[in-house]
Amino acid sequence: MMSVHDEIRRLTAPDIGARKGGEPIVCLTSYHAHTARILDGYCDVILVGDSLGMVMHGLETTVPVTLDMMILQGHAVMRGSKRALVVVDLPFGSYEASKEQAFTSAVRVLKETGCGAVKLEGGRRMAETIAFLTQRGVPVMGHVGLTPQAINTIGSFRAQGREETDWAPIEADAHAVADAGAFAVVLEAIAEPLARRITGEVAIPTIGIGASVACDGQILVLEDMLGLSPRVPKFVKRFGDLGPSIEQAVKGYAAEVRARNFPGPENVYPMRKKKP
Ligand code: KIV
Repeated sequence: MMSVHDEIRRLTAPDIGARKGGEPIVCLTSYHAHTARILDGYCDVILVGDSLGMVMHGLETTVPVTLDMMILQGHAVMRGSKRALVVVDLPFGSYEASKEQAFTSAVRVLKETGCGAVKLEGGRRMAETIAFLTQRGVPVMGHVGLTPQAINTIGSFRAQGREETDWAPIEADAHAVADAGAFAVVLEAIAEPLARRITGEVAIPTIGIGASVACDGQILVLEDMLGLSPRVPKFVKRFGDLGPSIEQAVKGYAAEVRARNFPGPENVYPMRKKKP
């Protein structure tokens, strides 16, 4: 007899880690079930990113995002997907105080959503925490280069490593994350030659966002690449332009409601025919 576990073979963190240097790893963000269902057929990794604070809630930064917000959307994405590895971001304030705090937060995320891994921002400063988590059954995806949760200390969302003199700390961060046991690392907004160098040096897959085609995989925020976000960074390519078609649909709905054309006869429940 086949158990439910045999029916669905979800990709795991080790599966993704083993893809180093191989076929590019396709990743996108999703925060809800319907988009997760679509992405699942094409993506290796679905990230429930804390960018949901900006995309879903219109926040200026990811700083106010809470663990409960991440868990709620993590649940939704798990329900919508079957095959992709789902990674959930640990939000600002849920992991930096200590490795024990990080473990407690990560365990909540894994237990309450059923996802396969967490992501956290920071290089050398998070290495001890990443090692603590990975040694205790929590797969971790790292995130170095531009780390948006640090916006209040870095001042602005700027590309990193555009001068060769700035490379050493970013390189050291990527190495620290890999050496600590992360299964993959996001490189955000870093210059192409540095991304290429890090990708050639570290033993784990690099997932680029604004870090060039040299990386082992790519990630974008779904709403950015669909053309739904009003402002996007230079590294975003708009693969779709959903804004106008959504507007067209809403416009059509509003017009039909105002003209009392919707709902039509095909959209209403008829009375049951009386039995003779
Ligand atoms: O929060 C997010 O969506 C992310 C990706 C942009 C990598 O961290």
